[in-house]
Amino acid sequence: MLKTKITEMLGIKYPIVQGGMAWIATAELVAAVSNAGGLGILGSIMFPTPELLREEIHKTRKLTDKPFGVNITLLPSMRELPNDGFVQVVCEEGIPIVETTAGKPEKYIDTLKKANVKVMHKVGSIQHAKHAESIGADAVIIVGFEGAGHPLMDDVSLWNLIPVAVDTLKIPVLAGGGSSDGRQLAAALALGASAIVAGTIFVVSKESPAHPDFKQALLNACECDTILIQRTIQNQTRVFKNKTSMEVLAMEDRKAPFEELIPLIKGEMGRQAYMEGKTDYGCFTVGQGVGLIKEVLSVKEIIDNYVVGAQDIIKRLNA
Ligand SMILES: Cc1cc2nc3c(=O)[nH]c(=O)nc-3n(C[C@H](O)[C@H](O)[C@H](O)COP(=O)(O)O)c2cc1C
Repeated sequence: MLKTKITEMLGIKYPIVQGGMAWIATAELVAAVSNAGGLGILGSIMFPTPELLREEIHKTRKLTDKPFGVNITLLPSMRELPNDGFVQVVCEEGIPIVETTAGKPEKYIDTLKKANVKVMHKVGSIQHAKHAESIGADAVIIVGFEGAGHPLMDDVSLWNLIPVAVDTLKIPVLAGGGSSDGRQLAAALALGASAIVAGTIFVVSKESPAHPDFKQALLNACECDTILIQRTIQNQTRVFKNKTSMEVLAMEDRKAPFEELIPLIKGEMGRQAYMEGKTDYGCFTVGQGVGLIKEVLSVKEIIDNYVVGAQDIIKRLNA
């Protein structure tokens, strides 16, 4: 009942994709998502070298025989990312699908396609989605204003982006961010999306490596507990509302230069929040869908809840 162009293209059971996530999307989580019928995607940005990504791919393969992908983040970073090497490892290892993010995937599209790797490019606007299609992406993930990560500064919600994208593009469209339950999965499919891409809900899963205090902070949060920062440096990101992110916002209000923001926004602080549970420390990305997450469940329970919830709604509407 939930068969779509994306389940067919990726050879997965359900139209549910776990977006690549720095620090969080490691072998255990990714394998759990793929084993439960979705598509798990390994993060790459946290690996200092391509060989460490290769090790994580091998570790994931020991935990699942189902398809999984790798995320290649092309956004500007405070350290130079070894993306050329990551792409080489992906091709050598026969990974079937890559999620590229922002930036310019042009550089890698030919190499990936020659190695039979499908490319899903993640964007935040219709203009960028059209461009991704024109350069040969196999699918686009459109992330709305409500999602974790770097929603574009146009501030358009998924509710409006998806139908326009579906009307404009020929390749499949995935609805990125803000979907934490079966009602939202059904709504995304109704709008024409071929799958959802979720992150925040998997951060709170049993298999996620995030610190228990971090998971608890997200369980306590409501849909209003995220804010947008880094607008002044044209790199907007949706983060958890805490002492540090509010301080960054105040600094941006008084037009503090980038150099002053760095100590508070650097990835290492976010890592300590996720992995060591220092939830007031650092800026870390979280989507507005956090408001619907009420308990720590296994990945299988999360995926089953999405599927049963969506199927119930579809049955009810058909009746
Ligand atoms: C903790 C965390 C880390 C993330 N890291 C990355 C990343 O390294 N690269 C990337 O393309 N997206 C990253 N994302 C975005 C996710 O892949 C996905 O697009 C997003 O989480 C979907 O929105 P949602 O969290 O509202 O479901 C991250 C998201 C979270 C929550």
